[in-house]
Amino acid sequence: MTLRSTPKQYGMIAVLLHWTIAGFILAALISGFAVDAIGKSAQEILIVHIFAGIMAALLTLLRIIWWLVIDTRPLALSGHSKWLVNIIHFLFYVIPLGMALSGLAMMFFSGAADQLFSSPSGPLPDFDLFRPKNPHILGSRVLLGLLALHVCAALYHRFAQKTPMRILYRPKANN
Ligand code: HEM
Ligand code: HEM
Repeated sequence: MTLRSTPKQYGMIAVLLHWTIAGFILAALISGFAVDAIGKSAQEILIVHIFAGIMAALLTLLRIIWWLVIDTRPLALSGHSKWLVNIIHFLFYVIPLGMALSGLAMMFFSGAADQLFSSPSGPLPDFDLFRPKNPHILGSRVLLGLLALHVCAALYHRFAQKTPMRILYRPKANN
């Protein structure tokens, strides 16, 4: 597998970015729900959540630069649902960035950073009182829906249409 993509296969950097970002987004989703469930004493989990969310957003920025400036996407697998795939992939770029911005806004307006990083750390504020929580919640639900669609589409292509998973690392592939 080459560093850059070919018309048939995603390159090593695109594959690495795909799975690292997927891991950070899953970690942000799980830790976000955990912070919400635990409430004011979830300081440590919130730190993990902020780290995962910021990493997901920074790597998404890197992925955008990678596709726009350095690499060219492989050709689409099938023509009929190309526009839908493009919309889903586009939202996968925009939403993590929006999540990081609304998350940072929540931290800023609630003054939570003071409680979080003081020693010993104080109880967290009630984030429901701050407006950026609404787009943050909405974004997380849309992200979950897109993820379900995306995984179903990947499995459909792999098992029903028998096309190879082009985002998987395949060292023996010729191109
Ligand atoms: C939050 C998690 C995920 C995100 C944000 C995500 C996002 C993306 C994006 C944006 C692309 C387009 C290529 C690119 O821009 O790099 C893509 C391609 C792909 N993803 Fe994911 N993905 C996630 C999880 C998964 C999972 C769990 C699977 C497998 C079950 C998967 C399978 C694929 C496949 C097979 C492709 C290539 C489609 C093709 O051949 O054109 N993704 N993904
Ligand atoms: C891809 C990035 C992110 C995802 C997927 C994500 C996801 C989530 C989820 C699912 C929740 C729980 C929502 C609910 O109440 O149902 C949440 C809450 C929250 N997130 Fe994020 N988040 C991300 C980034 C960030 C960042 C970068 C920050 C801060 C800089 C942040 C700060 C918060 C805060 C303060 C809460 C409220 C916790 C509470 O209600 O007690 N998030 N997030």
